[in-house]
Amino acid sequence: MKIVYLNPSGQLGGAEICLLDLLASIRAAEPGWSLHLVLPEDGPLASRARESGVPITVLPFPPAVASLGDSGAGGPAGRQQSRLALLGKLLGAGPVASAYARRLGRVLRDLNPDVIHSNGFKMHILGTWAKPQRVPLIWHVHDYASTRPAMSRFMRKFSTRCAVAVANSRSVAEDVRAVCGKHLTVRTVYNGIDLERFSPIGPRLDLDTMAELTPAAPDTVRVGMLATLARWKGHETFLQAFSLLPQNLSVRGYVLGAALYQTTGSQHSLAELRALATRLGISHRVGFTGFLKQPASAVRALDIVIHASTHPEPFGLVIAEAMACGRPVIVSEAGGAMELIDANINALGHPPGDAARLAECIASLATDPSLRARLGAAGRATAERRFDRARLATELVPIYRAVLDGSTLQSAA
Ligand code: GLC
Repeated sequence: MKIVYLNPSGQLGGAEICLLDLLASIRAAEPGWSLHLVLPEDGPLASRARESGVPITVLPFPPAVASLGDSGAGGPAGRQQSRLALLGKLLGAGPVASAYARRLGRVLRDLNPDVIHSNGFKMHILGTWAKPQRVPLIWHVHDYASTRPAMSRFMRKFSTRCAVAVANSRSVAEDVRAVCGKHLTVRTVYNGIDLERFSPIGPRLDLDTMAELTPAAPDTVRVGMLATLARWKGHETFLQAFSLLPQNLSVRGYVLGAALYQTTGSQHSLAELRALATRLGISHRVGFTGFLKQPASAVRALDIVIHASTHPEPFGLVIAEAMACGRPVIVSEAGGAMELIDANINALGHPPGDAARLAECIASLATDPSLRARLGAAGRATAERRFDRARLATELVPIYRAVLDGSTLQSAA
């Protein structure tokens, strides 16, 4: 079996980390299979994939395609438009995107895969257009298409060219069905992580040094948010919650992460978040580390992990990572994230955007080491049961086999 994966970014966001775990899982389960990754840029994803023995083809996006988010994508699609024109309009980059799709088509013909697996909206679109007709395409959907008007219009229109959509949660699966209609087979495959890397015991980063803060007092409880700087990830809620904590509570906050994607307008800058911390009067209690290469060591350096997305979170990789490291996590309760936790058993929950409630949760954990230990241990047990990446091959290999021999897949969640 030869599978070509298409990913629209070379950076390491959640969908890319999941892709690396998926590749590792398939390689371990099916060492005879040939896997290949096509990316628009060299960078951390390419390096990590190469390290794990997966060959790469880099086919750079023209700048007009690279910088497109859905807000830049085109308006309503007329019925009479050709697929080419519609594609161009949806991408808002017309001929440039079409030319890219043709080049991608040539790359795919040369690679001659049995199955193509796309891992992000731009590649779902371009893959649909570029794929050789006989080769089945799997869309691996990590985000809500319905919140992206142009993407959802496209996905609905071209879903007949997709053999099966894989969604990272039941919530995302429902969204794909709502967008594309009942004819598209959708399967939920929860993400998996490396439970040896993400484990309670192991190295811990010195977050104070990294954030250029003076060393914290020994009893300080470290509370951190590990996320890309996408606006909906809720950094503002986190900082506001932090500003509501009593002054005498021995806590320190950390914003771990950086702006990752090239899509314009959708991300905070670190400077903006630092300025907010200053306005809220908490700059002495909050550190910013920028991008971290060792997320597991970062999570282990925290006593409390914050997930604060203000929109429904499709999955929320950091939740699974925190649980796997045995760290208590406070989760914004909406979307697929709610499928990962049992509130008050293996995590705490707060309503999205509710800084006051988040502050209460932080305070209750910061003052109660036994609660932290109990939630952390239950989180690790949950991760072992549900988020081991070995499961990815168990669930995906039958899907690859079925699309290859054209058998019908059940659309059950
Ligand atoms: C996307 C989603 C996030 C998920 C990740 C991996 O980044 O927004 O919720 O954890 O993909 O599936």
